[in-house]
Amino acid sequence: MSAARPQLKLGAFLYPTGHHVAAWRHPEAQADAGSNIAHYIELAQLAEAAKFDLIFMADGVGTRGTDIEALSRTAVRYVAQFEPITLLSALAAVTKHIGFVATASTSYNEPYHIARKFASLDHISGGRAGWNLVTSSSEHEAHNFGRDEHYAHAERYERAEEFADVVRGLWDTWEEDAFLRDKESGIYFDPDKQHILNHKGKFFKVRGPLNVARAPQGQPVLVQAGSSEPGKELAARTAEVVFTAHQTIEDARGFYKDLKTRLAKYGRGREELKIMPGIFPVVGRTQAEAEAKFQEIQDLIHPVVGLSMLNGMTGGVDLSKYPLDGPIPDLPETNASKSRQKLLLDLARRENLTIRELYLRIAGARGHWQVVGTPSRIADEMEHWFTTGAADGFNVMPPHLPVGLRDFVELVLPELRRRGLFRTEYQGRTLRENLGLSTPRHPARVQTAAE
Ligand SMILES: Cc1cc2nc3c(=O)[nH]c(=O)nc-3n(C[C@H](O)[C@H](O)[C@H](O)COP(=O)(O)O)c2cc1C
Repeated sequence: MSAARPQLKLGAFLYPTGHHVAAWRHPEAQADAGSNIAHYIELAQLAEAAKFDLIFMADGVGTRGTDIEALSRTAVRYVAQFEPITLLSALAAVTKHIGFVATASTSYNEPYHIARKFASLDHISGGRAGWNLVTSSSEHEAHNFGRDEHYAHAERYERAEEFADVVRGLWDTWEEDAFLRDKESGIYFDPDKQHILNHKGKFFKVRGPLNVARAPQGQPVLVQAGSSEPGKELAARTAEVVFTAHQTIEDARGFYKDLKTRLAKYGRGREELKIMPGIFPVVGRTQAEAEAKFQEIQDLIHPVVGLSMLNGMTGGVDLSKYPLDGPIPDLPETNASKSRQKLLLDLARRENLTIRELYLRIAGARGHWQVVGTPSRIADEMEHWFTTGAADGFNVMPPHLPVGLRDFVELVLPELRRRGLFRTEYQGRTLRENLGLSTPRHPARVQTAAE
């Protein structure tokens, strides 16, 4: 199979014990994952040996929910886990090639901190850092930052627009060769190659300069995961990778086409953005084995946990007031994750699901694409999405860890490689190079080159 065939990009989307809401109860799961660095080192080295483009760490600056009975029965929803940038800095020291994408919220951070942390991670990793910009979707995070209510959806995206520009402006403090470090002359850096930002905007006033040297990648890779109208506009203007959730290939193609079409408006080409939907793969050597594996973990869901997760993802309405085996009631539009609420309600209506059926349906993939099957079936479906305009790659969401990732690596990757769809060796040194993204030069250099 010729190497010329376009190859898909892969992210290892690591939740502590795995993505399934009952993952921690699986006999093979590392139940203390959230506090176990050895567990993450094993996963990072497994994903690197498998030549994944990146490891992705989601994050929330607060536990999602206050329903203590449900929370005390779950290892997800940010109950107890490492802060992602801290964790990824440690993993950078025990890996060489794989990229590191950490989530950080624009609603509960300051741009200067974010610019500094990701530029530092890019240096520490030798050019492998990426920032997943989110606006936070949960009310609970607001309560940890002096607020009784979360920012309104429109306002938090407006803030995110300015936040992204301030961070990118700070990343352009230094030109590539600003630092002379000339012990003889005593000149440490060339003052003409330091650029003060002096930003004054609606939400932020930031003078700069950034006190971290220019990042090896020029700028860490900018990732986003918003899918609402303002989310898509922000992504079209600033994102280089977009993570997204879709149930059907039609929805995924629609989103892909919509977002790629918007790029031109900002003078950007289609190849400057990689769209990577989530995939929740349950792999078995036979279809029956795959389904048995899935049922085994479904049987570990406690109804209180399933319902509570559904409450959180459909806008916070307490569905326990409605008959569990009755239909989903009409729900008010949420200020939380708009696209996810719509995705789940569309699914319930489309398939006429009861409340119980819906939480059982999303317990694993939280609305992302779920495939239960043999390696060739999963490879068939990934190939179909990839070759028909639904994805440039995928964010792989193992049901439970470490085994769920190992199964994918040992069973599905060989099939994708046999078809020439995934790399056998890393092509580049940096995350950008492996993703096929260009490395931005300092605007002053671009200017000079143009003159
Ligand atoms: C793959 C993926 C990963 C996400 N990771 C996070 C995360 O780590 N933290 C977070 O607050 N939101 C995360 N989100 C949610 C998005 O940031 C966003 O809130 C959600 O997609 C809804 O966006 P919308 O309101 O623009 O529709 C993620 C979404 C997707 C699809």
